[in-house]
Amino acid sequence: MTHARSKYSRGTPSGGTLLDTARIRADFPILNRQVNGRTLIYLDNAATSQKPRHVIQSIVDYYERYNANVHRGVHTLSVEATDVYEEARRKVARFINAPSEKSVIWTRNTSEAINLIAYSWGDANVGEGDNIVTTAMEHHSDIVPWQQLARRKGAQVRYIPVGRQGALDMAVARNLIDRRTKLVAAMHASNVLGTINPVGELALIAHAVGALMLVDGAQSVPSMPVDVQALGCDFLAFSAHKMCGPTGIGVLYGREDVMERMQPWMFGGDMISEVTYEGAKWNDLPYKFEAGTPNIADAIATGAAVDYLDELGMGNVWAHEQALGAYALERFKELEEFHVMGPRDPGLRGGLVSFFHDTVHPHDLGQALDRMGIAIRTGHHCAMPLVRGHGIAAAARASFYIYNTEAEIDALIDGLKDAAGYFARK
Ligand SMILES: Cc1ncc(COP(=O)(O)O)c(C=O)c1O
Repeated sequence: MTHARSKYSRGTPSGGTLLDTARIRADFPILNRQVNGRTLIYLDNAATSQKPRHVIQSIVDYYERYNANVHRGVHTLSVEATDVYEEARRKVARFINAPSEKSVIWTRNTSEAINLIAYSWGDANVGEGDNIVTTAMEHHSDIVPWQQLARRKGAQVRYIPVGRQGALDMAVARNLIDRRTKLVAAMHASNVLGTINPVGELALIAHAVGALMLVDGAQSVPSMPVDVQALGCDFLAFSAHKMCGPTGIGVLYGREDVMERMQPWMFGGDMISEVTYEGAKWNDLPYKFEAGTPNIADAIATGAAVDYLDELGMGNVWAHEQALGAYALERFKELEEFHVMGPRDPGLRGGLVSFFHDTVHPHDLGQALDRMGIAIRTGHHCAMPLVRGHGIAAAARASFYIYNTEAEIDALIDGLKDAAGYFARK
């Protein structure tokens, strides 16, 4: 992990680096917004991050200066658009250390990337009596596509249980993953518990029985250095909107030899090399999986988001998030009647804290905080089985990113004390 100094980081007396939040915040126009008379404190980053000016401007530049369709034109604008669009794909490939940009497919989001695998790879490789192993802490995006695949094929979905400390039970995982397992699909970082899962270890276990490994990187790629070769995964899915990029675009990384053998799941323009009235031949990777005019502007903006995060240094981003997560865990200890979900050890988790109160509903807490200009998430966090497994229907979540500060966490804690006191008196 690199902790390189950049113009966005500052040294600490102990020789480490911290993100220079004042400098970063100046790049995010929305952070100056007033909400209910207070300066916005945005702690809903696990749902979607805010966007720096540089990313917003890259979209404006495309539409104002070189808007054209890609891949098909000989005119200047089309050539320029194609160059910047394909350069963005190369930036993403470098960002996750993919061996080639051919294995980087643009999708709409993480969910679509996982569905692509479920249909294209799953339908061809999973059969009756086979199983897909996922975890009990997954986001619905990494549960429902496998349930549907299993239903289509007469296969089974198995869930690696979550232990009391909020970590996967790896002993059970070793038993669940067997010769009939075709795929292991697990989130790298939990959007509810904050747990960092040992996906590299799961990949080894999967490969030992001939199964493939899919990593849901929706919460990890924005926050920590992710290297697909070091993890040894076959597929990685993530969304740009959680990592300073725009909505409407995500990425599927797939091992090139696996994806060469896969059939497309959507058909139309750009994904073919030849069409006759009788049939069609498929284009090369990555285009085989990208039917129709792509989301050009947002792909370009994803490239800009990667530039921004590269400038910060992902090692620094991770250190910053973990430090904020640890600080929040510490401060939550002051709160009576609040329960924090996930690992107690800050070293085992990232920069988010989900919590619930003995008597006050999370929605009431969320609304009370909103009146103070503080944005958090409340609900089931698209992980209903996990949240219900804690004996609750909903939880509140504060999630931190590169521009958040300890002072904002202090404001959150004060706000929760006030809100809980107010509802208790009612
Ligand atoms: C762990 C995880 N997986 C998948 C998703 C789905 O991402 P998207 O809605 O961008 O498809 C999310 C979004 O919250 C997530 O946190």
